Amino acid sequence: MSSTLLPAPISVAPMMDVTDRHTRWLYRRISRRILLYTEMVTAAALHHGDPPALLDFDPSEHPVALQLGGDDPTLLAQAARMGADWGYDEINLNIGCPSSRVQRGSFGACLMRRPDHVATLVRAMRAEVDVPITVKCRIGVDEHDRYHDLHRFAEAVLSAGAARLTVHARKAWLQGLSPKQNRTIPPLRYADVYRLKRDLPAAFVEINGGILTLDQATEHRQHVDAVMIGRGVWHNPWILAEVDRRFYDAADRLPDRFTVAEAFAEYATHAASPTVRPQHILRNLAPLFYGQAGSGAFKRALAQTHREGADAVRRGLDAVRAIQDKAQATL
Ligand SMILES: Cc1cc2nc3c(=O)[nH]c(=O)nc-3n(C[C@H](O)[C@H](O)[C@H](O)COP(=O)(O)O)c2cc1C
Repeated sequence: MSSTLLPAPISVAPMMDVTDRHTRWLYRRISRRILLYTEMVTAAALHHGDPPALLDFDPSEHPVALQLGGDDPTLLAQAARMGADWGYDEINLNIGCPSSRVQRGSFGACLMRRPDHVATLVRAMRAEVDVPITVKCRIGVDEHDRYHDLHRFAEAVLSAGAARLTVHARKAWLQGLSPKQNRTIPPLRYADVYRLKRDLPAAFVEINGGILTLDQATEHRQHVDAVMIGRGVWHNPWILAEVDRRFYDAADRLPDRFTVAEAFAEYATHAASPTVRPQHILRNLAPLFYGQAGSGAFKRALAQTHREGADAVRRGLDAVRAIQDKAQATL
């Protein structure tokens, strides 16, 4: 089946319990073009669970990729079909998660040891949908972490038709480290990912891991096709504000934090439901003023969203304005 890869020089990483649809709605107000990912949804959960709860998204989130986890070709093919029918622009397979829950299901990072099986999964999904199938992986797992192992894995999944390979540039230890430790303790090995792109020039290679600024992203793009940022965006979403100008040559006006926060407060009022409380949605705003005068006052106001809802956001914005005006006046 044919599939056209999105022009995506930069993306926001899938982050379980962080990048839900509300987070993505917020990120989309800051960058109109960056590729967004869902957090991982397992093929089994889609098969047995509640597809609308797992798949619904707002049309403004495009371009958006659905990330799947699993190791069964039939279930993954079905899940890819559901995702494509639901309107996702891309289906991504998670071969990077080292959590013990995921290992018990024999998927995620432990599949890096089985490149031919991952190739089978990619082929099964590709046969089912027109949208691109992409893969996110590590540079290796446990003692399978030589460059040769990564190269062999990449060749297998790319020849099966994976349209992009995103490589988190550190290995994962499957025993003894928590997922969180596996995102900090194994050292970053960017050179392996650069070498992969050199050795497989026709492949679309995206690098991920430890990238915090757009200057760093620009630097990496000297060596690879694209850059994925996770915690850098989570902790400071405003770094997305320059993405469209710097990576998409877009001449759009730069967004403004106050306008974005007001729009999000309004959105949260409508998006809240008996199962999703407004404070759950509004918590996404907490890092909006990261590094700015008034950030602390804004967060203190947000801590009251469980009582005041979106009014807490407006009160927080007034506090930030007052602090910033005062700072301006004393210059
Ligand atoms: C809270 C959290 C949840 C994550 N959940 C996922 C996930 O669902 N799927 C996945 O492929 N990676 C997941 N990751 C890993 C990130 O996608 C990314 O590979 C990793 O954080 C390294 O990039 P960074 O240094 O830019 O954060 C998660 C990371 C964090 C911090």
